[in-house]
Amino acid sequence: MNDKELVAHQALQYVSENMIVGLGTGSTANYFIDALAKRNKEENLKIRAVSSSVVSMIKAKEAGLPIIAMEQIKEIDLYIDGADEIAPDLTLLKGRGYDLVREKLLARSAKKFIVIADESKLVKKIGDNFPIPSEVQPFAWELVKNILIKKGTGDIRINAAKDGYAITSCGNFVLDFNYPEKSTEELNALLSQTPGIVEHGIFYNIAHGALISSNGKVREIWKN
Ligand code: A5P
Repeated sequence: MNDKELVAHQALQYVSENMIVGLGTGSTANYFIDALAKRNKEENLKIRAVSSSVVSMIKAKEAGLPIIAMEQIKEIDLYIDGADEIAPDLTLLKGRGYDLVREKLLARSAKKFIVIADESKLVKKIGDNFPIPSEVQPFAWELVKNILIKKGTGDIRINAAKDGYAITSCGNFVLDFNYPEKSTEELNALLSQTPGIVEHGIFYNIAHGALISSNGKVREIWKN
């Protein structure tokens, strides 16, 4: 079992019968989806799952988890997701997988949100390893880019085929920017207050805990 798989299996201890569980997106979250589906079947836990992306919904369906739509829920019991970066205070950077709005909404609506990752995701400061993604309404992207360019450097995200702009599952574009001069608090406020930005990748004060794996061992970090 690799470190991502290990940490995904550890997260199962927070699952109990009849829960509505939010499913994250990415390779670590995929391990959790498989492990959850297996446990659900073996122990007849009657879990209902809600997905943070089309990709994780397809994955969950294939694994045999009953899926419910976001429109059918008011809150969820547990949200388990990976992250691109994790700072010491459990601020996260997320959004490489394009589904920022759904991911942050599920994270916010969860009674418990636990991030699962291997130690490669630990950083001193958000933005150390990746640019910060902002999901923008298509008509607004040039204006938003012009606002952000005064604070940092970056551009619109190009799609995987490199023949157009990347489009999120909500039909928006993504601006990836580095802001070396700014603190996480300042950035969170700046991006939250910029019109045209639907959502951004800084998850500030949202995660309740983190399970971090390293060389076959898992440690837990909890928010006070
Ligand atoms: C998806 O949008 C991201 O927020 C993911 O949580 C992140 O990319 C983690 O992916 P891995 O588990 O594959 O590293």
